[in-house]
Amino acid sequence: MNDVVRLTDVRRSFTQGDVTIDVLQGVNLNVAEGEIVALLGPSGSGKSTLLQAVGLLEGGFSGSIRIDGVEASELNSDDRTTLRREKIGFVYQFHHLLPDFDARENVVLPQLIAGATKPEAIARSERLLSTLGLANRLDHRPSKLSGGEQQRVAVARGLANRPKLILADEPTGNLDEKTADVVLAEFLSLVREEGSAALVATHNERLAQKMDRLVRLHEGRIA
Ligand SMILES: Nc1ncnc2c1ncn2[C@@H]1O[C@H](COP(=O)(O)OP(=O)(O)OP(=O)(O)O)[C@@H](O)[C@H]1O
Ligand SMILES: [Mg+2]
Repeated sequence: MNDVVRLTDVRRSFTQGDVTIDVLQGVNLNVAEGEIVALLGPSGSGKSTLLQAVGLLEGGFSGSIRIDGVEASELNSDDRTTLRREKIGFVYQFHHLLPDFDARENVVLPQLIAGATKPEAIARSERLLSTLGLANRLDHRPSKLSGGEQQRVAVARGLANRPKLILADEPTGNLDEKTADVVLAEFLSLVREEGSAALVATHNERLAQKMDRLVRLHEGRIA
């Protein structure tokens, strides 16, 4: 089976004044095609930092970061952006939805940017949102949606371009327990249906148990 993510000896340090913290101290981690991996670890252990490395959002990392067979650390910034757009979808805790666009448009726009036609993008947006129970919320702007509903729109948007890899940082972190369970179950079933792989940072052991595999960050490494 092919690995969508292959991290070898990934390191990241942050320096503030004369204090340096070594957050990632040689992370090795593979995620197979279609595999859903929970990333656990206490606050400050480096989960978000690791997702930033895999998401090719920032520099400053050393080691090898292979995304779907491509060595990202050797790419220039334009090629890294292209790789990220083509392969990776993001779902954040604070969903970063566009406030002036309705639910449907929030899921349509990334598809148009990626080159889909408008009818295709609208059809996919409506299908994803309907699967997530939002068929009668398509015209609602984020401010007219509940937190759980906004999170579902963020899930649909993350999956819009059929990414091989979904990166999710505390995707249900700001929802009450019951809503978090429902949204996570929907998220997992949709990711499985789409055949994407996912790396999901979470504090919630119980929700993590529902994923295919758990890994833990401890002292800068995957334990
Ligand atoms: N840009 C930055 N500059 C300096 N230090 C940083 C920066 N980003 C993160 N850190 C530090 O790196 C460590 C890991 O942060 P990170 O956000 O990755 O943790 P986390 O595991 O996601 O925590 P949480 O569960 O609270 O979200 C923290 O100690 C943090 O203070
Ligand atoms: Mg974090």
